Amino acid sequence: MKMIGLTAGRKYGNSEVLVRAALMAAQASSGAEIELIRLADLTIKPCIGCEKCVYERFAGREGKCILKNDHLQFLMDKLMECDALILGAPSYCSRPPGYLLMVQDRFLSVPSSYRKRLAQKPIVKGVIAVGGSDMVGVMLPILNRCPGMNMKLVDQMMVLWTSRPGQMLLNEAAIARAGQLGENVARAAAQKPEDGTYISKESNENLGSFDRSDYDLTTQLTPIQEACPVCHSDLIRLRGKTAECPMCYMKGTVEVNGGMATFVCDPVNRPSPYAGVAGRKRHDDDGILVADKLVQEKRQEISDKGRKYRSGITVIRPPEIAK
Ligand SMILES: Cc1cc2nc3c(=O)[nH]c(=O)nc-3n(C[C@H](O)[C@H](O)[C@H](O)COP(=O)(O)O)c2cc1C
Repeated sequence: MKMIGLTAGRKYGNSEVLVRAALMAAQASSGAEIELIRLADLTIKPCIGCEKCVYERFAGREGKCILKNDHLQFLMDKLMECDALILGAPSYCSRPPGYLLMVQDRFLSVPSSYRKRLAQKPIVKGVIAVGGSDMVGVMLPILNRCPGMNMKLVDQMMVLWTSRPGQMLLNEAAIARAGQLGENVARAAAQKPEDGTYISKESNENLGSFDRSDYDLTTQLTPIQEACPVCHSDLIRLRGKTAECPMCYMKGTVEVNGGMATFVCDPVNRPSPYAGVAGRKRHDDDGILVADKLVQEKRQEISDKGRKYRSGITVIRPPEIAK
């Protein structure tokens, strides 16, 4: 079994310490082959929004990204080879660093064969988030969907108030928890997809009544209340009389029992509008392809109206950068 650690933080930084602890524990418990990739070592160009990959896929082809001379393919190949991923990142402005988000955008171009492979044997994933303070707003929901969406989350942890380089090395409880996360991910990777849920039991054990200020002051390990039972996001958005998970769009209601608020939803009878074949149809056929047909029909009108917005303002070009 092959496990990759992917870090989006400083070299030997706080998140890297935990990712390494997770990898080492996974290797010790399961004999996994382990490797580490630092995202900062890779050159990843930003998605330019051409959507060529999407149209290629719609046409039944692979749908590879047209951007060349960067490390996206390398990263995809590495992930394709692995069974399990440990993703670690610090909080930057309450979310993961921008270069991880750039990778996430580029994963729109995951080719068809890759998607098929993930459908047959999903890569299982553990997520490690580190905050210099407790400003970690959308860390877990975003990390849970990174780099690509079709990975199975097994375990997640978050450590707060760890800002200084090397500080994590003093936190034995967090390092032990990262080790447990690595073991959980390794165990799930050894299961067959049909063996049922991938989510480790242990990962739910530290869920309790939750208050953002209620983390353990000694270890800075924060309890994680998974709000959405489908994608394990810890966010819920209120939508009038209903509520929805803003990450997988699962709909439900918020109920308070014994002072504990929970998101109640019915994933079987009322799945996410984006789930499965029906979800794909809603997104692709009823959404994108309908809009595409409209744009084709109104091509002349779009061209006429667009003239006003194509001239009259000087576009400043940046100087060339040395290669
Ligand atoms: C640009 C930048 C923005 C940051 N924003 C936040 C933040 O919003 N919330 C937070 O808790 N920590 C924030 N931090 C602190 C880092 O999360 C913290 O230093 C962390 O330990 C870095 O992890 P690393 O050593 O793995 O890189 C920020 C740091 C940087 C450099």
